[in-house]
Amino acid sequence: METNGHSFKNVTVIQSRSVQYLLMKVRNKNTKGRDYVIYADRLMRILAEEAICRLPHVLDAEIETPCGTVTGPIDVEKDKLCVVSIVRSGDILQEAVRQLEPGVAIGKILIQRDEKHKDKIPILYYKKLPKNISECTVMLVDPMLATAGSATMAIRVLVENGVEPKNIMFLNLICAPEGLNTLNEHFPEIKIITGAIDTKLDQNCFIVPGLGDYGDRYYQTE
Ligand code: PRP
Repeated sequence: METNGHSFKNVTVIQSRSVQYLLMKVRNKNTKGRDYVIYADRLMRILAEEAICRLPHVLDAEIETPCGTVTGPIDVEKDKLCVVSIVRSGDILQEAVRQLEPGVAIGKILIQRDEKHKDKIPILYYKKLPKNISECTVMLVDPMLATAGSATMAIRVLVENGVEPKNIMFLNLICAPEGLNTLNEHFPEIKIITGAIDTKLDQNCFIVPGLGDYGDRYYQTE
């Protein structure tokens, strides 16, 4: 995929007017409090739907309607799915997937950027993953991809626990090109689903234009 003069492998940007509309709401610095949560949750739900219908077991096949036949994406067989969030912003997206797939296996990885460090290096604090995760298709969720330090560390944790990169889908809301380049370089097999590829990172490693700090805005910890 070509965006802003960059070329990325295995990246799908959801081309939907509803995603663009809700993204404008959550990007807008004047959207706050309850409104922010409502718009963000609506957006997460659409992203969750778009990711679920792109899982590897969803393939085009024919079904019968009461009046004929039609071909389109259906669950051909059900893979074991595990949804892993990068705490805390990832939890918002994870909950949207869980509401659509109740009972899905859940994993948590707590990685925080060290905002005092000039390169915003990530630190791993905690992980809890299902025991059979190596047999699962893993949907790794985090709305923001900036330097990709957090996502790269989370993927390394998954790989150390036996998950093959080709079985990982990274679901995201906004990517910086720098982060996508890093992910593509380290893990070219990973499928990435996102709502937008923005212009760049600023000197503080924030995505431009981005939306600021998603977790702080959603949880009102600004
Ligand atoms: C944000 C975001 C990602 C990370 C992206 O989390 O949710 O996890 O930063 O940055 P990176 O690609 O440069 O690693 P943050 O550490 O702010 O924690 P939060 O989810 O609690 O807000």
